[in-house]
Amino acid sequence: MIILGIETSCDESSAAVVVDGRHIRSNVVSSQVALHAPYGGVVPEIASRQHVEAIGHVTRTALNEAGVSLRDLSSVAVTFGPGLAGSLLVGVNYARGLATALGIPCLEVNHLEGHLYSAWLLADRPPPELPMLALIVSGGHTELVLMHGHGDYELMGHTIDDAAGEAFDHVARLLGLRYPGGPAIEGAAVNADAPVSLPRAWLPGTYNFSFSGLKTAAMHRVYALATGQDANAARGVTLPRIDVAEGLSPQQTANVAAGFQKSIVDVLVRKTVTGAEDRAVQSVAVVGGVAANRALRAAMEAAIDVPLYLSPPSLATDNAAMIVAAAYFVPREMDEPDVKPDLELAPRRSERV
Ligand code: KG4
Ligand code: ZN
Repeated sequence: MIILGIETSCDESSAAVVVDGRHIRSNVVSSQVALHAPYGGVVPEIASRQHVEAIGHVTRTALNEAGVSLRDLSSVAVTFGPGLAGSLLVGVNYARGLATALGIPCLEVNHLEGHLYSAWLLADRPPPELPMLALIVSGGHTELVLMHGHGDYELMGHTIDDAAGEAFDHVARLLGLRYPGGPAIEGAAVNADAPVSLPRAWLPGTYNFSFSGLKTAAMHRVYALATGQDANAARGVTLPRIDVAEGLSPQQTANVAAGFQKSIVDVLVRKTVTGAEDRAVQSVAVVGGVAANRALRAAMEAAIDVPLYLSPPSLATDNAAMIVAAAYFVPREMDEPDVKPDLELAPRRSERV
């Protein structure tokens, strides 16, 4: 079964052709990073306009690379949410138009369910055995999901404030590092000689996460290092970010980046290990953009003792192949024009995971 996937939930326009839910024939991603970098984050209007520009070309490239024509497609799968409303609209309208013209179903896929199914795209390995514990760590989400069966999920824990990727992006801005923050912090941390010590929010007795206190602690530490004052003196101070970061030496920046990264990695790993042991899972997957982080990958590899599914960076960050995998394995309502005329967007809906 050959399915075309479309993903435009944030700032990547992506199209992919995947056979039988696991075999990637093409997975084309057009990144908008350079357009958003001057603003230090994604600007929604720029993102949706750029999706309009890119989606046709990206889709044609995916079909050409796969050596597949439109007539070969069984269905089109598209992300309907969560994500940026204007960005989702572009992909959903494009996918619906294409499916309607071809007379094939348009399958709606939850973006988080897509991230979860990136573990099925490691086609040189047997598929994960269930129950599987998945840590979904991205720019918008940090969740521990216990997967009992296809489409059968239990939310064990979630962030009560910021997502891990959001914290990476925030602290990177604080340090005057380029967007996106995750890879920039990872790059800076490599040069650390004495990582600063920052707090970890363990939230005992729960599988939940919290990163906002860590962000504030990092801000206080940057202030203290830049001004030579005691970190306590920074309490209640709102930092003019870049100006303060300019007071740090590259070595100090590296040490803050490494200390921050270590705090996040420690919490993500400990909670995942505890969840995997408590629920006696058969496998663990770490998915979403932050799963590209090498420190996190190495720590997970050392700590998890059941088969571990770590997406390569190209499948960890947003891509359309994972959307097809989810559409293939989880039976879902089909958007056949005469059956269900309205395919609704759900920018903030994630209950399916
Ligand atoms: O899954 P994703 O591509 O988009 C969302 O669905 O949010 O995740 C993007 C997030 C960003 O916050 C980015 O900074 C983070 O993933 N990220 C990383 C790394 N690469 C991307 N975080 C830490 N280390 C990385 N190497
Ligand atoms: Zn994502």
